[in-house]
This record gives sequence, C-alpha cells and structure tokens, in this order.
Amino acid sequence: MIAIRTGLGWDNHRIADGRPLILGGITVPCEFGLDGHSDADILLHALTDALLGALALGDIGMHFPDTDPQWKGASSDRFLLHAAKLVRERGWTISNVDTTVVLQRPKLKDFREAIRANIARLLELDIDQVGVKFKTAEKVGPVGEGKSGEAQAIATLVK
Ligand code: C5P
Ligand code: MG
Repeated sequence: MIAIRTGLGWDNHRIADGRPLILGGITVPCEFGLDGHSDADILLHALTDALLGALALGDIGMHFPDTDPQWKGASSDRFLLHAAKLVRERGWTISNVDTTVVLQRPKLKDFREAIRANIARLLELDIDQVGVKFKTAEKVGPVGEGKSGEAQAIATLVK
C-alpha cells in the first residue's frame, strides 16, 4: 500500500539594505536583501519546514535555534539537507515540492530555472519535481510596501 504525507512551510524576513538576496540558494543581484541570523533564505527555510512538517518533526527553529551562534550567517543548504536526510532515514521519498516567493521586487522570473535546478540538486530530485512561483503583493501590506519578503512551500512524501 502507498502511504502519502504532505507538509506545509512558510517564512518571512525583513528587507534590509546591503544584505545579500538569497533565494533557493541563488544570489539575486539587488541593492537590498533579507535580514536574519542565517543567510535569510526564506525559500529554503519554508521548504525545510515543509519537509519537517510532513514528518511531524517540529520546525526549523527547533532543529537549528537562532540563538545558537553556530548558525549565524549559516548557509540554509544545511537546514534543507538535514530535513532531507530525516526524510530518507524514515523511509520516505519526496514526490514533489512546490513553492511561492512573495516579493514586490526585484523581478525574479529570470532566476526561476537556476533556483529550481539548485533545489533539485539539494533534494536529489528531477527539475520537474520542483515548482517555483513568484508573486508581488500588489503593493499592499508589508510585502507590497517593500518591508519584507515571504515564501510558502508544500512537500509531498511517498512510501
Ligand atoms: O504578483 P503578480 O501576479 O502581478 O505577478 C505576475 C508575474 O510576475 C508572476 O506570475 C511572476 O512570474 C512574476 N514575478 C516576478 N518577480 C516577482 C513577482 C512576480 O518575476 N518579484
Ligand atoms: Mg527564515
């Protein structure tokens, strides 16, 4: 019998001048970036939480507390690889992941394929198992006013 699980992830970081804008492990050229204890990659953080959620193993902050100095400036690859390892150890296979990044600007669509390829590489998936979508917030609310960026992710696991 096939068992199926899904997990949901969401993240939100403040925009800050002079910080790198890293999404899905790809640095997007921009005069601002996202603030945070680690590299503030909202997309990989949301994806990590989606995998942890599917396993019902808590959330990213439980596995990597942001009060711990060893995670300061950490590349978020590490968080996602840790969650992917837990998926494998528990006998699950990732069927697909889908994501949405909500940022008023810059335009991100030219980075879609690089981000998909990097997530596929990290999760050992084919690129057609990785969805990456972008939305503005129609200039409304903190994201729309350029104060923050958000990402959402969903992951489906099969056994
Ligand atoms: O938010 P909205 O529906 O107006 O976005 C239209 C399209 O613009 C999206 O489907 C997406 O492909 C692209 N987009 C983008 N970078 C963003 C926001 C949206 O490339 N930061
Ligand atoms: Mg985060």
